[in-house]
Amino acid sequence: MVLSKTASESDISVHSTFASRYVRTSLPRFKMAENSIPKEAAYQIINDELMLDGNPRLNLASFVTTWMEPECDKLMMDAINKNYVDMDEYPNRCVNMIAHLFNAPLGESEAAVGVGTVGSSEAIMLAGLAFKRKWQNKRKAQGLPFDKPNIVTGANVQVCWEKFANYFEVELKEVKLREGYYVMDPVKAVELVDENTICVAAILGSTLNGEFEDVKLLNDLLIERNKQTGWDTPIHVDAASGGFIAPFIYPELEWDFRLPLVKSINVSGHKYGLVYAGIGWVIWRTKQDLPDELIFHINYLGADQPTFTLNFSKGSSQIIAQYYQLIRLGFEGYQNVMENCRQNAVVLKQGLEKTGRFNIVSKDIGVPLVAFSLNDNSRYNEFEVSDMLRRFGWIVPAYTMPADAQHVTVLRVVIREDFSRTLAERLVFDICKVLHELDALSSKISAKREENGKNGTVVKKTALQTQREITDVWKKFVLARKTQVIC
Ligand SMILES: Cc1ncc(COP(=O)(O)O)c(C=O)c1O
Repeated sequence: MVLSKTASESDISVHSTFASRYVRTSLPRFKMAENSIPKEAAYQIINDELMLDGNPRLNLASFVTTWMEPECDKLMMDAINKNYVDMDEYPNRCVNMIAHLFNAPLGESEAAVGVGTVGSSEAIMLAGLAFKRKWQNKRKAQGLPFDKPNIVTGANVQVCWEKFANYFEVELKEVKLREGYYVMDPVKAVELVDENTICVAAILGSTLNGEFEDVKLLNDLLIERNKQTGWDTPIHVDAASGGFIAPFIYPELEWDFRLPLVKSINVSGHKYGLVYAGIGWVIWRTKQDLPDELIFHINYLGADQPTFTLNFSKGSSQIIAQYYQLIRLGFEGYQNVMENCRQNAVVLKQGLEKTGRFNIVSKDIGVPLVAFSLNDNSRYNEFEVSDMLRRFGWIVPAYTMPADAQHVTVLRVVIREDFSRTLAERLVFDICKVLHELDALSSKISAKREENGKNGTVVKKTALQTQREITDVWKKFVLARKTQVIC
């Protein structure tokens, strides 16, 4: 008879997780394990691995919300076991409020036409599909070919537009950018429009530099063009970020349903809608702009329910959270948050300008972000600045611009609600430290090269060799620093 068990075999409820065998076996990565493990061990192991992810609050690359009030966190947890499809009221209320914010032509208590999505990407797929179907129906009715639809955008569009074009077989006609001009030029966009264009997509808040495209000018030019040609090419506004900014701090700016050719608008609830990741919205101007044949009706959940989404079931916490923010903050609250973000963006921009080392490529009016490039990148580049900032915990992306401005590299800091002035000032301070270290490092490299030259060791190097040498030394330097931090 066995009287006692060894610690490794005994129950985890008696021993701490770290005294159990579960912390010394590796986790399955490809095949599900044969046996169960205790919940405490599963929690601890996963939780510990998640510690390796960066701190979301310091991730300045993302537009997505990283902070919400504890009351809302609680509501979201309470709704975690509710399915979106079982929910009638809250999505509709949000759609109505957002449609009013975008100046949809609605009566006081008229229901708006729109739907909650996973994010702007799904919203854009749905809006794009509606345009494609409307265009095809019209062409069919006219007895014209309908097999070559295209869509006109700037080359600065987010990848979801390329996905839409690819998945739904629509040609993407992109207006190229140029140095110093990083958004779609409305004049060039209208030149690209032809009889097969299902819509022109304008962005309110370019992902690359936050700039608002000139939707009003696009609308006016397109009206003229439509008059001349007899086409009725419409506009979609991708207001993923700007949709929850412009109504509050740039109310005079005409970009929404006030413009007659704007037929649909998407916005990410999880960006400046101030909700955690997983919510977007698409609103149509009127019922006529969303072909009825795309809407499915189901009744097996108890009542007739129209549905137009790519997925059927999904979590409802984000919807609840969006509703919470809309009623909790109201117009006043959103306005204050956006104004704070704008002012903190100004603090950061001015701090960077003061260094005299950067060229700012974002605009004062737009999404509150600062996009900037080095004035002089002959000794080190923006990618190196980005990498060095990681040492301080900051995630600041560096990327190249799309065609025809690929040679321009920028760093971008998105100012979210939870990025206060103190953090903005601290970031400027850390950027200055990084520049200082990179300056010192590049002087060291030049001195070493000179010395080698004197000794006759190095005769001549190509620009590529020099660049590689700088990068190698720099990488070693960063690695050494990282090790020191760990120690
Ligand atoms: C202009 C624009 N459109 C669409 C998207 C895609 O949005 P989501 O992440 O909500 O799917 C983004 C994301 O950054 C964006 O900036």
